[in-house]
Amino acid sequence: MTICILGIETSCDETAIGLVADGRTILANTVVSSLELHGPYGGVIPEIAARVHAETIATVLEKSLEEAHLNLDQVDAIAVTQGPGLPGALLIGLAFAKGLSLALKRPLIPVDHLAAHLYAGEMSDPSVVPPYIGLVVSGGHTLLCVVHPDCRYELLGETRDDAVGEAFDKVAKLLGLGYPGGPIIDRLSTEGSRLAVRFPRSHTQKPLDFSFSGLKTAVYQHTEKIKRSDLAHSTQHTEERKETSVADIAASFQEAAVDLLVSRTLRACQRTGIKQIVVGGGVASNQRLRERFSDAAKEGKWRVIFPPPPLCVDNGAMVAGIAFPLLRKGKTAELSVVSDPNLCLTERST
Ligand code: KG4
Ligand code: ZN
Repeated sequence: MTICILGIETSCDETAIGLVADGRTILANTVVSSLELHGPYGGVIPEIAARVHAETIATVLEKSLEEAHLNLDQVDAIAVTQGPGLPGALLIGLAFAKGLSLALKRPLIPVDHLAAHLYAGEMSDPSVVPPYIGLVVSGGHTLLCVVHPDCRYELLGETRDDAVGEAFDKVAKLLGLGYPGGPIIDRLSTEGSRLAVRFPRSHTQKPLDFSFSGLKTAVYQHTEKIKRSDLAHSTQHTEERKETSVADIAASFQEAAVDLLVSRTLRACQRTGIKQIVVGGGVASNQRLRERFSDAAKEGKWRVIFPPPPLCVDNGAMVAGIAFPLLRKGKTAELSVVSDPNLCLTERST
């Protein structure tokens, strides 16, 4: 018998609901983003995100059911992101999920957002089974872990400061490129030289940790230097020179960030002897990251799985997907369950 799970995701600025059969088959994956409302502020405003979730979540549910040609009676369980994420935003999704669970008399399954990002790799390629190395690269997190069978996670390393998506967003802001910066830098980098500036690759005390704040500062210092020299040598070609420089800086920054992600991940493979890698989270859409990992995989030592872009961004299908093995393990919750803005994979490792 097919088990159909409805997955609700409201951890940040996407109001998303997915419907997935047996943890694999995506019947619907509706995502509505409040991104354009945050753009003018250069980052997500938590109150706006929560208000938009409250306003739109019922419509997103209707759209999702319509897309799947299902009605609510055909849903067997309700899954929802418990954390990590913005406290107010998480509350809206969880309250909505509890309402559905109560009204439909269906089990409620709380889900870790980061685990769901990695499960997107398993959904996109059924031949991917744990154990594998998970690299989570999002706006709020950057971490490496071993994903063991039975949804167990072993943290290997994490960022000591900014998340990589946050670094993309901050660098884009200081280059005057707009928000969110990741996709803009990704696109602009194709017009620049990644060898133009040799930005530092940060060293961390722990060999599998990440650090991006030094890189961000180096980009800032470099742009300040250019501004000073532009002022000193102002000519009629200044505009042209500045434009080239921004694409070059973007490409060089991206190369340094990607270098760090790829080198740490391959180091994790060497240390654990695990040869399969799943990359999840918004930054997994990055073209250069995909290119660098597929180059590494060409040597035949590793297999790297990237979910397709709609499963890299925050979405409800990944939440519904991972809830299937959790349901089979009996990981359902009472209606008294609370959200946890600081939830991290490691808490489920025992
Ligand atoms: O996973 P996600 O959708 O939300 C969080 O859970 O944080 O990730 C959003 C992050 C943002 O920082 C955004 O700039 C970044 O992912 N991002 C990218 C790309 N697309 C989105 N970063 C680099 N290259 C991209 N193509
Ligand atoms: Zn995310």
